[in-house]
Amino acid sequence: MAMKSKTAKQKIKKPWGGRFSGGTSQAVEAFSESISFDKRLWKYDIEGSIAHAGMLGKQGIIPKKDAKLIVKGLMRIATRIAEGGFVFREELEDIHMNIEAALIEETGEAGKKLHTARSRNDQVALDLRLYLRSEVKETIGLVGGLKAALVDLAQRHREIIMPGYTHLQRAQPVLLAHHLLAYAEMMDRDAERLLESLKRINVLPLGACALAGTSLPIDRLYVAELLGFDAVSANSMDSVSDRDFVLEFLSDAAILMMHLSRLSEEVVLWSTEEFSFIGLPDAFATGSSIMPQKKNPDVAELARGKTGRVYGNLMGMLTVMKALPLTYNRDLQEDKELLFDTVDTVKSVLDVLAQMLPVINFRTERLEETAGEGFSTATDMAEYLVKKGMPFREAHGVVGRAVLYASQKGKRLEDISLDEYKGLFSGLFDKDVFQVLSPRASVAAKKSLGGTAPSEVARRMAAHKKEKEKKKKDKKGK
Ligand code: ARG
Repeated sequence: MAMKSKTAKQKIKKPWGGRFSGGTSQAVEAFSESISFDKRLWKYDIEGSIAHAGMLGKQGIIPKKDAKLIVKGLMRIATRIAEGGFVFREELEDIHMNIEAALIEETGEAGKKLHTARSRNDQVALDLRLYLRSEVKETIGLVGGLKAALVDLAQRHREIIMPGYTHLQRAQPVLLAHHLLAYAEMMDRDAERLLESLKRINVLPLGACALAGTSLPIDRLYVAELLGFDAVSANSMDSVSDRDFVLEFLSDAAILMMHLSRLSEEVVLWSTEEFSFIGLPDAFATGSSIMPQKKNPDVAELARGKTGRVYGNLMGMLTVMKALPLTYNRDLQEDKELLFDTVDTVKSVLDVLAQMLPVINFRTERLEETAGEGFSTATDMAEYLVKKGMPFREAHGVVGRAVLYASQKGKRLEDISLDEYKGLFSGLFDKDVFQVLSPRASVAAKKSLGGTAPSEVARRMAAHKKEKEKKKKDKKGK
């Protein structure tokens, strides 16, 4: 039996309904609507419309009194939305038409003039830029918060030594603070990337109209000034058809989440019985529904896992954009859910990690104890021989043989006697060799710029703190 497609009840006339004699299929309405998710742009849509109406009035494109009525009407609508008294209608497709229709209901003839010299194509690009500008700033703040938690944690554990790893095998002793501050450096670069992207986000697309600009005497520079944009887009076709600013954020977010997933992975590893480096407080762990003894690091696992959707959103958006001909295509509506999901995900992960880090309980004895295991100061012994005049490659071989000898005897390097060192390995050994073998001496000696010596780590920590103070001052000064 052939199905007849149902058409929606045309209670509300579509703003674009003029050239149509029939209604839209209900299936199409449900399929193409974006109001269910783009309603979160309402504040920016209204902010943009207020600036646009002001410009139309100033330019004499619409009467000044109409511009005033529009602005007042939009403000009333904003209050209604904020208070939850606004009904969003699917048949009006998206946030732009929902608000415009409400404005016309509210102000009559005046409201019908708002969409002069504007298209939803430049309007949606504007809303998205305003939204992202605000979210990027908030995300930068959250990255700063997580960084502050890392610096604080490093400061509190500045004396503690732990094993540093390569290939997940114990490699050389390092300061726990040095390890934590490695993530602080990553957070700095993530914040910097986001900050730099603002330059490209903060460009006004409005005035591009559908794709070609307009014959009406608009003043785009004025709108840019009202909305706090640094620049006005230079090409109307580019303005409505590209979303590279969204892609840039999704890329920056993917890199940021990659960093957070590494930190999370270490929290997971360190909390295992096998590592036993940290304990998680009850508030940040969860249990098992069957195994009564379990205490699981679910927060870190979820943070690690959510990296997948953030990568996915980037790939999704790259794929939406790929080979899209100029200019606007409805495909672009797919940008929003991907962007919103990444914004929400990244913010929630940053927030929860910043809350969890300060309450992680480091098992400092275990960290110190394991720092010296696994011949972790063998490189220090090789550098000792270098200082006595032996070429490094030769010293590497000598110490390698000493490690083999000690491990076969089930001993540590410091348990081999000076006579054995001298007789079996090299005449350059002296009793001062034993001084370089402790993890604390090893760490203290790594004074090269950016190394793990307490003096170097303290220098970097001070720089982080100074920077934070400076940011605080700059914020106050503004
Ligand atoms: N909801 C649309 C979007 O998100 C707004 C722009 C619609 N433009 C159009 N020509 N249908 O992209």
